[in-house]
Amino acid sequence: MKKFALSLFLLTSSAFLAACGSDEPASGGSADGVEEMTIKFSHVVAENTPKHQGALAMKEYIEKESDGKIEVEIYPNSSLFGDQDEYQNLVANNVQFIAPDLSKFVGNNPQFNVPSLPFMFDNDDEAIAFWDGEKGTEILESLQDDGVLGLKMWPNGGKHLTNNKLPIDSPDDLDGLKFRTQGGQVLEAVYSTLGAGSESIPFSELYTALDQGVVDGQENTFSNIESKKFDEVQKYMTVMNHTRVDYAIFTNTKFWEGMNEETKAIVEAGVEEGTKVAREEAISLNEKAYDLIKERGETEITELTPEQVEEFKKTLEPIYDEFEEEIGADVYEAARAAAGQ
Ligand code: LMR
Repeated sequence: MKKFALSLFLLTSSAFLAACGSDEPASGGSADGVEEMTIKFSHVVAENTPKHQGALAMKEYIEKESDGKIEVEIYPNSSLFGDQDEYQNLVANNVQFIAPDLSKFVGNNPQFNVPSLPFMFDNDDEAIAFWDGEKGTEILESLQDDGVLGLKMWPNGGKHLTNNKLPIDSPDDLDGLKFRTQGGQVLEAVYSTLGAGSESIPFSELYTALDQGVVDGQENTFSNIESKKFDEVQKYMTVMNHTRVDYAIFTNTKFWEGMNEETKAIVEAGVEEGTKVAREEAISLNEKAYDLIKERGETEITELTPEQVEEFKKTLEPIYDEFEEEIGADVYEAARAAAGQ
């Protein structure tokens, strides 16, 4: 009997030790100390966009590495919070991650106008170089009084003009039209400089606003235009690349700092993974979206010649002087350096 009890003890303890051993990653950490929690990530765009793909990669990484102890719920299409209320809900920790278009934060800090500076960046790499640099990081971290921390920039891409009135290929063509913008002083100035009016409208209301003629047009990336089918309700599109949609992933500081070490290491690595995917996917998703818009043939497309682009650049140039004091000569300098100017 004694012999039987001893072998049973040896058997169960070696099974127990084997189980512990198999769970332990080589680093010495484990999912053992990870807190069980549900993290919410809310955004306003569709699923076939760089932002949603980044969020999915983040979810997959965090859930796998935490052995399912951390659940990440993603709410696309303004299904949890929209442009009007996502920031307050992040401050209140009702949502732990949002990734808004940076131009929607210009009311908190005018330096978030950088993506709206006309023709500043030619491509994602230049914009990434700015936001990963010292000035960009400083701006992303400027909301800490509200308990909000900007972690990493996620690009979407250059914006293009759509409208319902006429094919646009010169600055004069915008005269008297009204455009929807994402918001902000610089975008407002872009349109007034071109003789047009503008109005900021939440993304979730944009399709209806275009359909009902509340505004004549709007500016957006190919992936946003295609995934929300704005081409269905816009007769003309001009490929402009004059301003950008760039996001950053923002979190609630108390949530971020309140996680224990094991939990935070996984969530932080998840943000890195999401950043990698969002940055990798942006260009190809926009290219695919442009092809789809062309295929659908709902909107007449104008591609500007280099001379026509120059004309827009020249017309919009005074905006730089107008906003230098508000945005900062140092920010301009850092952005120009990132853009290789
Ligand atoms: C828009 O409001 O047009 C975009 O900024 C939406 C987004 O998040 O890409």
